[in-house]
Amino acid sequence: MKKGELVLLMSEDSSHVFQISDEKVNTSDGWVDLAEVKKMIFGSKVKTSTGKIFTILRPNLIDVLRKRVKRSAQVMLPKDIASIIANTGIDPDSLIIDAGTGTGYFSIFIAKLLPKSIVVTYEVDKEFFEIAKKNIRSADVWNVKIKNRDVTKGIQEKNADLVMLDLKNSSLAVKHAYRSLKLGGWLVIYSPTVDHLLKVTKSVKKVGLADFRIIENIEREWQSTKTIRPKTMGMMHTGFLTFARKV
Ligand SMILES: C[S@@+](CC[C@H](N)C(=O)[O-])C[C@H]1O[C@@H](n2cnc3c(N)ncnc32)[C@H](O)[C@@H]1O
Repeated sequence: MKKGELVLLMSEDSSHVFQISDEKVNTSDGWVDLAEVKKMIFGSKVKTSTGKIFTILRPNLIDVLRKRVKRSAQVMLPKDIASIIANTGIDPDSLIIDAGTGTGYFSIFIAKLLPKSIVVTYEVDKEFFEIAKKNIRSADVWNVKIKNRDVTKGIQEKNADLVMLDLKNSSLAVKHAYRSLKLGGWLVIYSPTVDHLLKVTKSVKKVGLADFRIIENIEREWQSTKTIRPKTMGMMHTGFLTFARKV
C-alpha cells in the first residue's frame, strides 16, 4: 500500500477510515500500527492492541463521507443527492456549481462519483470555507475548486451543466445561476422549509426557467431486531428539491 492511501478497517460492529502513514492510530477497540497495515494487501486482517480483528478494505465514497468529513453546517443526505443525480441525468464530464459549500458533502459526493467532472463550490463563511477545504483534501478528491465568495454577488463560471443552491438566500442567487447555466443546464435548489420554497419558486418563475418541478423524498428506515417494523425515531424531514432547466 502507498503512503497517503485511504484504507477502511471494518469489523462486524465498527469501521474506521485511515490514511496510510507510519503512525499508530486509535480505533474504538485499541490502536492499530499503520506501518504494519502498509505492508499488507486489501482483504488482509489486522489485529488491534486489544486483540480486535479488522478486515482491511478499500473505502468507497460513502465510507469516506461518513468517516473523513468533519461536519460544520447541515449536510445534504444521500437520498436527496441521489435524487438530483437521477432527475438531472448529469453527464460524467460536467461543470457543476455548488453553493454554499457547507461541509462540502454534496461537492465531494458528486466529484467522487463523476471524477471527470469539475465542481466549483462557493462558501461565504471563512471558517466553513477552511473546514470544507480540509474535508475536500482528506476525502482525496482533486476535481473540486472551492471559493470563499458570496454566490449572491455572482457566479464567475459560464456554461455550467448544473447549478446547485443550498443556502439561506437561494432566491437571491437564482439570476446568477441562470446566467451561469448552459442551454439545457439544470438549476436545483434545496429548501428546508416551505417559506424558503415559496421565495425560490417566485425567483425561478421570474427568470423563466423551464421544466419546473418540486420533489420531496421521504425515506423511512426499518428495524430488524426482535421484530421487523419501521423505526419509531428517524430523520422525518430534510428538504424540498426544486428542479428547472435553462432553455
Ligand atoms: C446548509 S449548508 C450547505 C450544505 C452543503 N450542501 C453540504 O452538502 O454539505 C449552507 C452553506 O451555505 C453557506 N452560505 C450561505 N449564504 C451564502 C452565500 N451567499 N454564498 C455562499 N455561501 C453561502 C453557509 O455559510 C453554509 O455553509
